[in-house]
This record gives sequence, structure tokens and C-alpha cells, in this order.
Amino acid sequence: MVNGSRGPGELAPLSREIKLGDRVLLYQDARRKWIAKVEPGRFHTHRGYFELAELVGKEYGGSIRTSMGQNLAVFRPRALDIVESFDRPTQILYPKDIGYALFQLGVGNGDRVLEVGTGSGALTSALARGIAPDGQVFTYEMRPEFLRAAKANVDKAGFGSLVTFHNKDPTEGFDETGVDAVVVDLGDPWRMVRAAYGALVGGGLLAGFTPTINQLEKLAIALREGGFVILEAVELLMREFKTEAGKVRPETRMIGHTAYVTIARKLLPTPEA
Ligand SMILES: C[S@@+](CC[C@H](N)C(=O)[O-])C[C@H]1O[C@@H](n2cnc3c(N)ncnc32)[C@H](O)[C@@H]1O
Repeated sequence: MVNGSRGPGELAPLSREIKLGDRVLLYQDARRKWIAKVEPGRFHTHRGYFELAELVGKEYGGSIRTSMGQNLAVFRPRALDIVESFDRPTQILYPKDIGYALFQLGVGNGDRVLEVGTGSGALTSALARGIAPDGQVFTYEMRPEFLRAAKANVDKAGFGSLVTFHNKDPTEGFDETGVDAVVVDLGDPWRMVRAAYGALVGGGLLAGFTPTINQLEKLAIALREGGFVILEAVELLMREFKTEAGKVRPETRMIGHTAYVTIARKLLPTPEA
């Protein structure tokens, strides 16, 4: 993919020009950025407003000036930008953990991926971006109100056709079989190991996200007993940097801990000699 040539949920190359109905990212700085739909009406910031329809026909990557002279860059939003704008009825995974897990799982076009713990749909959207345009994500969530919110979020990101939503606890088994990967983000992930084993192809991958070491240990025990090989369990620490010339250094504060990421593969039983 050529960077910037596709929108978050767009499956084919897009025009470089902004069209009526597009969702755009308006970027002032790292803290002041907004997603807006290009339609009749004004977009207001604390530094003035502009008419959204003025964007129609302009090339992505340019800027627009508000009534008070503030320049805003106008970018095509990435999936990440849309996810950051989601309503979040639940805790969501951090991009560092999502990105690493997707690479570890080797998620690509055409894959069929199972998810348990849809939550707000952040990981669902990243998975959908990964398996597009020919794959499918099957996601399970037991709380109907979270499933509704996640569905609205995933639709907003443009990935609705790539995701099948189940309002169900899949502990006793998933509806799908022969899947390439399973991701589990909930409090007791060890309960999903048996169902995951049943649904995965031989060698299929599993990613589990656990906030505490106790949960990680229980998951690791269940995975080993359940026929998986654990490839690794990691914690990813990320430090942001200030980038102003002469002051380049780490930010004073950082996110200390998010989740431990466990990656495992399904091992088929050894045939009897
Ligand atoms: C931390 S949230 C997942 C957040 C999600 N990964 C995201 O990035 O938006 C965990 C979710 O798992 C759901 N959940 C917990 N146990 C479950 C189960 N046994 N079956 C289905 N969903 C479950 C909870 O209702 C909650 O919405």
C-alpha cells in the first residue's frame, strides 16, 4: 500500500482529492486533532472556524485556515486515527501492543481471525485492517451494550463488512473452525484456550493480552496443557520524546504498564508410532 493512498476502511485506492462525505483528520498538533465529516456546516476550534465544504476538491495533505488564522493540516485518517476517536465503554488495547501482536500473528489479506472480548472494537478494527479485503474477523462479546458500541465504532471506521459480531460467550466453542488466528483480551483468557484449540488450524496462532502476572501465569499453564507451544510472553515499554530542536529528550511521564502479550501456536498431536 502506498502510504496515504487508502482510507481506514477503504479497500481500493482512493482519489487524492477530498470529496463530500469523506471523513478527514484535522491536525493542529499531537494533542489537538479531530475527525470530521465533510458536509455542509462549520467546524469550530478554540482558534476559529471554517466551512467544511471548503475542503471539497482540495488535495489530501494540505491545510485549511480558520477564521482566526489557525492552520490545520487536512489528512486522510488512518485506522489508528479513527480508533483514537472511538467511544470507549471499555478499556482498549494500546497501539504498541496491537501493532506488535498483529505482526507476531502474521495477520494478512484473506485470513480468518477470531476475537474474544470485542470491548470497544479497537483491536477488531486493527484486525479488520490487517485481513482486508478478502478475510473476515469473527468477534465475540457477551455484553450486548458493548457489542452495540463496538459495532458502531467498527462501522464508523468503515470495516463493517469485514467483521461478524457474535453476542455470545464462546467458552464452550466458537461457531467457526479452521481459523488462522485467535486473539483473546478479557480477564480470564485461560478459559478460552480449549475453544481456541478447537477452532484453529494446525500451527494457527493465538495472542493473549493480560494486565497482571497472575493472569499471564494462568494463561501460560492453560496453553501448555491445552496443546500450544508458547513462542513468547513480552511486555512492551514505550517512551515518547520531545522533538523540539535543542530540547530533544524523553517526555517526563510515560505509560508505565499496559498488558503482557503472550503469543502461542497450536501444535497438532504426535501420531501414534
Ligand atoms: C478489555 S475489553 C476488550 C477491549 C478490546 N480489545 C478493545 O481493544 O477495544 C474486554 C471485553 O471482554 C468481554 N468479555 C469478558 N469475558 C467474556 C466472555 N467470556 N465472552 C465474551 N466476552 C467477554 C467484556 O465484556 C469486555 O467487553
